Amino acid sequence: MDANVNSDAREDAYTRPLDSIDVSIPELYQNDAYQPYFERLRREDPVHYYADSKFGPYWSVTRYKDIMTVAINHQVFSSKWELGGVRLEDQVQGYERPSFIQMDEPDHGQRRMAVSPAVAPANLQRMEGMIRERTSRVLDELPRGRPFNWVQEVSIELTSRMLATLFDWPLEDRHRLMFWSDVTVCHVDTPDAPVHSEAERYAELQKMAAAMKALWDERAGGNAPRFDLISMLAHSDATRNIDFRELLATCSLLIVGGNDTTRNSMTGGLIAALENPVELDKVRADAGLLDSLVSEVIRYQTPVIHMRRTATRDTELAGRAIKQGDKVVMWYVSGNRDEEAIDEPERFVVGRPKARQHLAFGAGIHRCVGDRLAEMQLKILWEEILKRDLALEIAGPPVRLYSNFIRGIRSLPVVIRA
Ligand code: HEM
Repeated sequence: MDANVNSDAREDAYTRPLDSIDVSIPELYQNDAYQPYFERLRREDPVHYYADSKFGPYWSVTRYKDIMTVAINHQVFSSKWELGGVRLEDQVQGYERPSFIQMDEPDHGQRRMAVSPAVAPANLQRMEGMIRERTSRVLDELPRGRPFNWVQEVSIELTSRMLATLFDWPLEDRHRLMFWSDVTVCHVDTPDAPVHSEAERYAELQKMAAAMKALWDERAGGNAPRFDLISMLAHSDATRNIDFRELLATCSLLIVGGNDTTRNSMTGGLIAALENPVELDKVRADAGLLDSLVSEVIRYQTPVIHMRRTATRDTELAGRAIKQGDKVVMWYVSGNRDEEAIDEPERFVVGRPKARQHLAFGAGIHRCVGDRLAEMQLKILWEEILKRDLALEIAGPPVRLYSNFIRGIRSLPVVIRA
């Protein structure tokens, strides 16, 4: 399928033969041109097979209800790294990353429990004041009357500081965490990727794991664990004996989990809110709608484009026969625009009934462990923006990420009018 579809995406989506639709092409997301293809698939072929993609043959699950079916049926739809893991793109042999997002039960659950206290309500309460203070400072220091890059100055600044706190990592070195996050998610064949081969990617992540191991050794001593992720991993029965490769994989998961997703919700949310000033006015008039704004921002952006599973046996989904070993891809960006599940899904609406019922955090046993933290960070950001009554304006088009996995925004020029 031709990747250069941004100008005529709708016409192309509806005129090409159905069986030629390949939604794995990263340019579709870079050009923000993917929705018409999913719209047609939801209507005409909701569980769609494409045989010839760059990433091999795969099934696309595009409707909300079918995504839910796959997500909660983890016995039939496995996340196991040994079967290929959770991304459409298979991990290259010898460079697999066995983190708990790529495990089934019981291994997944035991490990997830080891880190979940870091983002549980008690710890979130402890962190709230600090997040608010940092957010306030970042907003107060933004330039007035001249354009700046919102992604760099706000979204990356806030999420990188948060990540450093979660790992109890030196704040002044937080850019290294950002770099390793980019290394983890990039498509190595793009010219501006931070690494250009799997070997190079793995070498960088080994450096990250070595740095984390040094912190681990310091914190693994006899004392009670502190509140950071490394201490929790070092002290939990399920994880204290993990090998270097799993440490690498786990840290890389936690870095990406806490970084790209929230970062892109901060940027995508700004675009959506400024393009829909009436919706923002609703929140100005009623602060009780802040939670709804946050959920709508996350649904509307849907920062994780897809998660993949592998069928552990022959099965059927929406009348299609799926064979054992087939790749099954849940397209969250499509499920969150499904007209059968969400009223007027194309519109950004504050105050939707059941605003939290979206698929951006996934569903089932792998549902995002950091969802409440992400929501809290976004809520504080919007509270502080509205408190200051900042006259924010978008000063140019966003530059989007080349990826079929993270719906990312690399830069967004913004001005604060005096
Ligand atoms: C708006 C922000 C966020 C979004 C949209 C998001 C999205 C997701 C999604 C879709 C999954 C499901 C994976 C699957 O089904 O295979 C997931 C899992 C996960 N997320 Fe998030 N995430 C966000 C924020 C965070 C934060 C702040 C953390 C902080 C640590 C985090 C850590 C994780 C981890 C560790 C998993 C794996 C859970 C498991 O396998 O049990 N995420 N996230």
